[in-house]
Amino acid sequence: MRWPKGLDGLCYGGDWNPEQWPEPVWRHDLALMRQAGVNLVTVGVFAWARLEPEPGRFTFDWLDRILDAAYEAGIRVNLATPTASPPPWFSLRHPEALPVTAEGVRLTHGSRDTYCVAAPAYRAAAARVADALARRYASHPALAMWHVHNEYATDCYCDDVAAAFRRWLRDRHGGLSALNAAWGTAFWGQQYHHWDQVLPPRATRYLPNPHQLLDFRRFLSDELRAAFREQRDLLRAAAPDVPITTNAVFGDWVPVDHRDWANDMDLVSLDAYPEGEEAEEQTAFLGDLARHWAGGRSWLLMEQAPGALRHGGAWVRTVPGQMARLSLSHVARGSRGVMFFQWRASAAGAEQFHPAMVPHAGEHAPIFAEVRDLGAMLPRLAEADAGEVSAQVAIAWDAGSWWALRAPHLPSPDVEYLAALRRAHRWLWRSGVTADFADLGVDLSRYRLVLVPSHFLVDDRQAASVRRYVERGGHLVVWYFSGVADANGHVRLGGVPGAFRDVLGVRVQEWRPLPPGGTVALDDGTLATTWCELVELAGAEVVLRYAEGQLADRPAVTRNRYGAGSAWYVSARLADAAYDRVLAAVSAAAGVGPVVAGLPSGVEVVRRADGVHSWLFVLNHTDRAVRVPVTGWELLSDQSVSGVLMVEPDGVAVIRQENDGVDGRAHGRVPGD
Ligand code: GLA
Repeated sequence: MRWPKGLDGLCYGGDWNPEQWPEPVWRHDLALMRQAGVNLVTVGVFAWARLEPEPGRFTFDWLDRILDAAYEAGIRVNLATPTASPPPWFSLRHPEALPVTAEGVRLTHGSRDTYCVAAPAYRAAAARVADALARRYASHPALAMWHVHNEYATDCYCDDVAAAFRRWLRDRHGGLSALNAAWGTAFWGQQYHHWDQVLPPRATRYLPNPHQLLDFRRFLSDELRAAFREQRDLLRAAAPDVPITTNAVFGDWVPVDHRDWANDMDLVSLDAYPEGEEAEEQTAFLGDLARHWAGGRSWLLMEQAPGALRHGGAWVRTVPGQMARLSLSHVARGSRGVMFFQWRASAAGAEQFHPAMVPHAGEHAPIFAEVRDLGAMLPRLAEADAGEVSAQVAIAWDAGSWWALRAPHLPSPDVEYLAALRRAHRWLWRSGVTADFADLGVDLSRYRLVLVPSHFLVDDRQAASVRRYVERGGHLVVWYFSGVADANGHVRLGGVPGAFRDVLGVRVQEWRPLPPGGTVALDDGTLATTWCELVELAGAEVVLRYAEGQLADRPAVTRNRYGAGSAWYVSARLADAAYDRVLAAVSAAAGVGPVVAGLPSGVEVVRRADGVHSWLFVLNHTDRAVRVPVTGWELLSDQSVSGVLMVEPDGVAVIRQENDGVDGRAHGRVPGD
């Protein structure tokens, strides 16, 4: 991963949209940014209509002045290409480049993200504006990084998409007969005899073809990525020394395989918008995921909302201190800085009520004091970037399984991939254990424990890797509806969990999804919901049994010794108490424990370490002062801690330790050393 040019500490700043303001406000903004310790601003994300007011005519003078002024103020620019929001003239001139929904409705301009990524006119116009920016600003001294587009995540079902989808399918499957086989078109007489009969999954009468749905999602990821690459190549050709990123957004609607895309960029960046009461855990989840996308290396938090969280449709102010805590949770997990959307609250427009670093009330509002405090903290923490995040446990992450489990034809609508993943992550987080996400196909031997929630698709490489991991002493937990299908989504015959049958030592004879509200008792007195199975032992021993109905006395949770390791299978959606006991037992067997033993509840600790030092990020998510048993050097207060650290309500601390001993007083490294 490459570091924004000209910055050697952690990045701090946010989206700056000065084109919304008269020039005197720009100067004032820059002065405030200096007060707040801001060193990087994202500029121009939605400025296409201003930059290119009519086709091919560019107006750079205003942007020149912005970049010059930022440079004079000592602030670097993360310069965005504005292609997420084409100007009105574009869609009037190219109505064929407006997106069409699955139901056949063509949308019109009036918001943002309203374009078809496969439309040749859109791609040409996007390349033209990116190229113009590249040529104009490649050697501007303020330029630290290129920010391509904004949150690639759009879909479309038009004829251009149909043509691009067919090209993608030819590449993936070869001929039509291979496509027919991969999509199982023998069922319901769907055989294709000519390529032009193949369409995107537009609205249809009844259940759509699930393999077509899965391939379409994969295609969208690749098509969006191709659009990203076109811009990236232009920017790179003009400025080879300037790193390139695009801000990843996470959500069920996002058809992007971010792990795959990461290979194409210099720095992975994430927009993180946790919602509701569980913001701390969601923040941890997103930060751990971003680190996985970045291949375990550093990444950058590109956007979050300053001082507020979404609750339903509303923005709710966070408690003072929460902004720093959530920000440091990202830094603890590998982010090389903290960026926000946006710097100054807009007076008008669709996001006029979105929280900002400088709110409508101005810089005397309390949020700006928190912004300044955070800006003062970050330079003290830059040295921790030398440390890798230590995790003993991996949770399997698989975009294909996620997408395949969104199809409408499954035996239960309640097998939710993300919910299963989040539950495993939440359990670890609450237990004080840091998690990595991992692809099952990689070498897993560095982990003591690997958790595999509802990993529906498994290819042979992943199955072999899991087998090797357990054989050599690893501990594994697999949840129901895993290993069911191959990469095309075809069921592996002979009984699930197909790909993992041997390692788990069980064969599932039948699925028994439960109706809404249905339960089944287990022999520990808890009630399972949603899902249960008729499991036959094939070498495994029983840990928990079903205790009623047709499944009474049959295995519900099993454990199999396999080589030097152990593999557990959970065939039902367990109640919290049972889930907790199973994971506690596996963790004990695997030797997995909290980062710091004896932590008060509600206190989170993440360790980063290099060969010589550790940095312990301590986040007190409670409203009371806590005592944490650690020794070392606290970077924010610049003081020694011996034995017990007091952390204020909602407070944070970062302790440097010598790996061989205790006091981490001596340290002078900065990132990039
Ligand atoms: C996204 C976008 C921003 C802004 C925020 C609002 O992350 O990138 O432009 O719309 O959402 O939360």
